[in-house]
Amino acid sequence: MPYSVLFVCLGNICRSPLAEAAFKQEVHKRNLPIHVESAGIGPWHINQPPDPRAIRQASQHGIDIRHYKGRQINATDFLNFSHIIAMDKKNIAQLVKLAPKMHRSSIKLFMDYVPDHKQDEIPDPYYGDEKDFQKTWEQVSLGAFHLANYFEELILKNSVL
Ligand code: 4NP
Repeated sequence: MPYSVLFVCLGNICRSPLAEAAFKQEVHKRNLPIHVESAGIGPWHINQPPDPRAIRQASQHGIDIRHYKGRQINATDFLNFSHIIAMDKKNIAQLVKLAPKMHRSSIKLFMDYVPDHKQDEIPDPYYGDEKDFQKTWEQVSLGAFHLANYFEELILKNSVL
């Protein structure tokens, strides 16, 4: 696959699995050649399924994420993924610390792909309620739509060069 996206949040059980699910749906719909995964900054939820509230949100939108397994970002991810996409600025700060210098440019905020976005960050819904997870879904699905547009343009540009 010429392109690969790694979505990153703190725990890899709420935001990044939802981002992975929403973006995989767009990639599938548009038949784009992109490999998609997600990971967490922290180690707390390694091998665990997503938060039940995230599983419910995805299921309400026709996507089953019960088989997703939490994992922690590692040094080779920076070599293997063309695009590392974080949910908030704290994630970015930690990723920049972990990344080899030459790979820092592959790290971006998810909302930066949304033109005229009103919010830079996708807030952590972990200590919130069902409504916060609904808001997270809305943000990640908007982000997924625009990220897919970005890749479509990139692929088109590279195919005519
Ligand atoms: P996420 O939410 O980063 O969106 O997956 C969190 C999940 C778990 C924790 C923190 C944030 N935690 O501290 O366990």
